[in-house]
Amino acid sequence: MAIKKIGVLTSGGDAPGMNAAIRSVVRYAIYNNLEVMGIFRGYWGLINEELKLLNHRSVSNIVNLGGTILKTARCPEFMTEEGQIRAVDTLKKYNIDALVVIGGNGTHKGAYELFKRRNIPLVGIGSTIDNDLNGADYTLGFDTAVNTAMEAIDKIRNTATSMERIFVVEVMGRGSGLIALQVALAGGAEEALIPERKLDFQALCHDIVDGNIRGKVSWIIIVAEGVGSATEIGKKIQEMTDLDVRVAVLGHVQRGGVPTARDRIFACRMGVKAVDLVLNNEFGKTVIIKGDELAVIDIEFAIQKRKIDTENLYRIIKILM
Ligand code: F6P
Repeated sequence: MAIKKIGVLTSGGDAPGMNAAIRSVVRYAIYNNLEVMGIFRGYWGLINEELKLLNHRSVSNIVNLGGTILKTARCPEFMTEEGQIRAVDTLKKYNIDALVVIGGNGTHKGAYELFKRRNIPLVGIGSTIDNDLNGADYTLGFDTAVNTAMEAIDKIRNTATSMERIFVVEVMGRGSGLIALQVALAGGAEEALIPERKLDFQALCHDIVDGNIRGKVSWIIIVAEGVGSATEIGKKIQEMTDLDVRVAVLGHVQRGGVPTARDRIFACRMGVKAVDLVLNNEFGKTVIIKGDELAVIDIEFAIQKRKIDTENLYRIIKILM
């Protein structure tokens, strides 16, 4: 099938590096004589016909910008029969032969629906700070988010040490503890509470009190949002240890900011790879990062529940604390 025109969209939570990926898709597609339509606000834009033709200049000066110039949204309507039919109608109306979708797990679930049930030729680019695509070592944006959270924790450490306090710091990651683990390791935290590991709360409080008796007066405890509210956890620790606890929720700060060099470099490469897949008619696949290289996996596989080995990193955190 000869592809003449493609559409590109970003969907779900934005991630640093998405703009660099959009730029790469647009410019490499134009280089290969394809037309590119930018679809705004993810699947919502497909349903509501919010799209426009992009040119080389449409993506000038964005390689270093966080967020996404195409905007993004979560679109429950897209999971309905009616929503999908309207999306397919838009693709037909604008003669879009294939789609490039940039996003995380939810975005890829939506893409799989379009590909499998509606026969829409498409490819993905794995981009989410959650790093929650099965089969991926990394997704675009994760590296920047970890660096952002690490910088915040370095700052918290200054005050935690000076005032000899316990800090409970909540990081993002929805159902995944990967940001928490990596940030805990890089930031030298004493503990990481993640959804993948059962929490022994009594033991944690016992360790804190015991450490305190031996002169260890400041702790940094990283909590992945999937475990529960850091505020509640902080309150419980204070009650059980009778020590001074403070809580910091890093929240959406982790989604923004200038993408790291690593994320930008991968974004540029992932965009090229995605367009190559389109040109070769290799649909239903997505581009992710494995080790220090790109890898292409089936979207059907990417949306399965991710199994990760958290024990190794957790063990190192506890030995080094
Ligand atoms: O995009 C991923 C993510 O930041 C998760 O880590 C978090 O749980 C969620 O999005 C927050 O979503 P929203 O910005 O829609 O509240």
